[in-house]
Amino acid sequence: MVVKPLKKNSDFVAYIYEIDLSKDLSRELSLQIDELINNYAVLIFPNQIITDKQQVKFTQLFGKIEESGSKSNITKPKDRRLSTKLADVSNLDKNLQLFKRNDPRRIFNLGNRLWHSDSSFKSIPAKYSILSGKTVTKNEGNTEFADMRAAYDSLSLEMKNKVSELICEHSLIYSRQRLGFDMVKELGPDEIKNFIPVEQPLVRTIPMTKRKLLFLSSHIGKIRDWIRPDSMCFVDDLIEFSTKTEFVYSHRWNQNDLLMWDNRQTMHRVRAFDDTKQFRDMRRTTVLGEEKLI
Ligand SMILES: [Fe+2]
Repeated sequence: MVVKPLKKNSDFVAYIYEIDLSKDLSRELSLQIDELINNYAVLIFPNQIITDKQQVKFTQLFGKIEESGSKSNITKPKDRRLSTKLADVSNLDKNLQLFKRNDPRRIFNLGNRLWHSDSSFKSIPAKYSILSGKTVTKNEGNTEFADMRAAYDSLSLEMKNKVSELICEHSLIYSRQRLGFDMVKELGPDEIKNFIPVEQPLVRTIPMTKRKLLFLSSHIGKIRDWIRPDSMCFVDDLIEFSTKTEFVYSHRWNQNDLLMWDNRQTMHRVRAFDDTKQFRDMRRTTVLGEEKLI
């Protein structure tokens, strides 16, 4: 395995070469990758030809798989294209047809264009995400990552003190509201129960590195004991600050790239592409976090 940081002396984003993730990896190698993801937050493995089953096996080296289901999307079980061990972040239905413009599943997926941390809306949020690019969009549809450790470090002392005790409510309802997609109206009372907001601290510490960071996401809709409009203004200011160019890496996809990122330490988003015309087949597996944060 050869590790090449994106920039010299940088601790954000590294390319990993000379490793085949479709093969069984030794315990030693998986521990090394675990250390690398803790240190670099985003790892890029080019040229990984890997089946869904192999991707699941690779993911399980780092913890339990977070299953995809009614708490993370609005696709009905009978309409799923992939196993529940994978999150389908493509623009395709089970018959490999592109979603039509007004399809609620398409509109729901547009939420991925907002800065977020995967599953921050779950009581145990995701640890790592692993995304393999089967059919990629060439000139558009980049995935961008923002370094939440660097953003935290750059806050003024006054702001560090202000954010230190804040608790935020996260829900898919809030992020979709930003797009004008009202899940409360679109879904029935039984379905909407799956998306009740959960509370997360705004600042968290990574156990392995002891670094502090901002745990931000467009899923945030309220700060505990604040009114919603004040919460939204404050959170939007913080998201704007944390996603300045200096904190962001933009990944242009090549076919068979496999990206692994730490949802605790980064936010990400997909950039626009013509999703009603271009196929984008991406398969995500997710490592469940280890514990509730509150
Ligand atoms: Fe995501």
